[in-house]
Amino acid sequence: MSGPGDTSRIAVVTGGNKGIGLEVCRQLASAGVTVVLTARDEKRGAEAVEKLTGLGLSDVIFHQLDITDTSSIERLAELLKSRFGRLNILVNNAAFNGHEPVGNPSFSPEMCIAQLSGMDAAQRVEWMRQNSRETYDTAVKCLQTNYYGAKHVTEALLPLLQSSSDGRVVNVSSGFGLLRYIGSEELKQELNDPENLTEERLDELLAAFLKDFKAGAAETRGWPKDFSAYKVAKASLSAYTRVFARRHPELRVNCVDPGYVKTEINWNSGYLTPEEGGSRVAAVALLPARGPTGALFANGKEASFV
Ligand SMILES: NC(=O)c1ccc[n+]([C@@H]2O[C@H](COP(=O)([O-])OP(=O)(O)OC[C@H]3O[C@@H](n4cnc5c(N)ncnc54)[C@H](OP(=O)(O)O)[C@@H]3O)[C@@H](O)[C@H]2O)c1
Repeated sequence: MSGPGDTSRIAVVTGGNKGIGLEVCRQLASAGVTVVLTARDEKRGAEAVEKLTGLGLSDVIFHQLDITDTSSIERLAELLKSRFGRLNILVNNAAFNGHEPVGNPSFSPEMCIAQLSGMDAAQRVEWMRQNSRETYDTAVKCLQTNYYGAKHVTEALLPLLQSSSDGRVVNVSSGFGLLRYIGSEELKQELNDPENLTEERLDELLAAFLKDFKAGAAETRGWPKDFSAYKVAKASLSAYTRVFARRHPELRVNCVDPGYVKTEINWNSGYLTPEEGGSRVAAVALLPARGPTGALFANGKEASFV
């Protein structure tokens, strides 16, 4: 296990207990990085570390982290400070899908695979839409987790990232975070203008979205139609990535779309394996020094935010 005198890279992955996050932990550890696998649930996190240890990856440690809990974030920052004195890589991966199932359907992997065979991506997304609903509470939780959770973890760990020579942040965004899903041209332009956009303005926009959502006016006010809170949260996370990257040229700050991956967040409706999705995220975390910053990666290359 690494200590403060070691030169190996240290990474934190949020939501590391399953899905893409677990794969990112595995791939980073396989590349020789010391991984702090975090999860909000102690048991699920410890079991995930055991899985990786069972694969011969001994440089993985567990630490509890609920990204919506300030004291949990502070405890992680203290552990990193006392144990390593720095952080090289932060992967903001944890997220909530922003909706709840309608009725009480079974979304076991077997059931989903059976129902979804023969459907293309659009049909699978439509199947999810028909079986789910967004409420004001799910919308609030979605913004709190997917946008503010990632932002608060990043802010708390910033001094540690700055203490390493090549600190980097990888925000796991989504194709659903592309600006094409936003109906209002004005909003699109604001979110696509990192030179003038500020974090305060992003707060105002997110508050306006929730107000419009509560009034049943999200779509007419130019916000995305379906899965609207998830799309707004991811578009905001991508915009924050660009704003934050400009403010911190000493770091590499990028976001990545892992692709449509078969995990619990989409009721196992995706096409790619977690290994494939995780490799797209790990590749951005492991980009050569002095690489791009403020960029979005999709399909293994830089992509448009629109
Ligand atoms: N799968 C896809 O097709 C796809 C496509 C585009 C983007 N993404 C993004 O990829 C990332 C990983 O998602 P996934 O597909 O691997 O989904 P997943 O298997 O459902 O994993 C989500 C992870 O986030 C954790 N999490 C949720 N809320 C949390 C909180 N408050 N604090 C800490 N951890 C929390 C979950 O923990 P629990 O186990 O405790 O719930 C879980 O570990 C997400 O950012 C997602 O938006 C996925």
